[in-house]
Amino acid sequence: MLKNKNIILGVCGSIAAYKSASLVRLLVKAGANVKVILTANAAAFITPLTLATLSKNPVYTKYYEEETGVWSNHVELALWADYILIAPASANTLSKMANGVCDNLLSAVYLSAKCQVLFAPAMDLDMWKHESTQENIRKLLAFGNLMIAPGSGELASGLVGEGRLAEPEEIMDFLNAQITQGMPLLGRKVLVTAGPTYEAIDPVRFIGNHSSGKMGFAIAHAFENLGADVTLISGPSAEQSSAGIKRINVRSAAEMHQACMEHFKAASITVMSAAVADYTPEIVAKEKIKKQDQTLTITLKKTADILAELGSQKTADQILVGFALETTNEEEHAKQKLQRKNLDFIVLNSLNDSGAGFGVDTNKITIINKALEKKTYEVKSKAAVAADICQEIISLL
Ligand code: CTP
Repeated sequence: MLKNKNIILGVCGSIAAYKSASLVRLLVKAGANVKVILTANAAAFITPLTLATLSKNPVYTKYYEEETGVWSNHVELALWADYILIAPASANTLSKMANGVCDNLLSAVYLSAKCQVLFAPAMDLDMWKHESTQENIRKLLAFGNLMIAPGSGELASGLVGEGRLAEPEEIMDFLNAQITQGMPLLGRKVLVTAGPTYEAIDPVRFIGNHSSGKMGFAIAHAFENLGADVTLISGPSAEQSSAGIKRINVRSAAEMHQACMEHFKAASITVMSAAVADYTPEIVAKEKIKKQDQTLTITLKKTADILAELGSQKTADQILVGFALETTNEEEHAKQKLQRKNLDFIVLNSLNDSGAGFGVDTNKITIINKALEKKTYEVKSKAAVAADICQEIISLL
């Protein structure tokens, strides 16, 4: 669950801070990228060196490190995180979080965060029971934060009762359960194609197109975030895919065809966003073609229509989605493709829409389903468009 997830672990001043060492170890072992922020009081209970060594990352303690001259940007840290976990969370930090106080790096990162925040309180019995603490916790839960409740038992003060930090294993279980909940496609096999294809003319030239692969890569990442097991077949593209995605690089339409045929059967969802060449040179010259006459004719032959072939093989429990990039009669052409290729829905881009098309980071789409109903969307980032496409697929499941 935690593989490649970015976790900020906030550690507050509590004797339970010693448990954060085990917690970091468990998080790292589960494949998470961990950055630790210690409050000044926490650093009195556990050394930054311990947590830096275990997390394999520098530990953050303040906005500005005098020794190194490094400024820790709280906004960047907050945006980096997929989850912020505050464990142990002291009464003092909970109070700051509940009331918008940000007088240290951890509270500033909390206020800047857009991701899910979880907190695991640890404090003495009477502090825990105090109406001020309970009121702060009610507020924090109402803000959408999640609490990993403290356990009951012997406390450092010698008192017995509630207030003991949840065990690291319990915190891990809570976090894993939380991640699973946000992953409706957990374990589903998904096939995505992206990018252009290059059709060789001779050893140095090819016929290609302007597709950058950005849209397909965004779709692959959106599926990964929803828990899917993603295979991405990509034509030549400068885009980076995350380590969790199985990436297969291809060049030509024929190579993409072969890779799709190999992986389609196992996929319960396939999204064909690649801009596959419709034609390829009939003969690929073995040597570089030399300049001779005023004109040069290259005979092209049709490539296999991969999507149509997948559509003809598709079983009832497979979902198949295609793309249509049009310049004229957009909807009519998209509807014809949807039906001809036996798709569950088609994503239409029009080159006439500003903010849509090749190379840009935004897109504007219309989704047309089997019943020929259409949904139009605003111009959005390709990541947001990818999330919309995934949601549409989830609604079909
Ligand atoms: N496609 C494919 N194999 C091809 C060509 C296209 O799988 N050889 C897929 C694309 O990935 C896209 C969809 O088909 O999902 C639409 O591609 P497009 O080229 O627009 O459609 P065509 O059927 O080729 O129609 P036309 O070129 O006439 O617009």
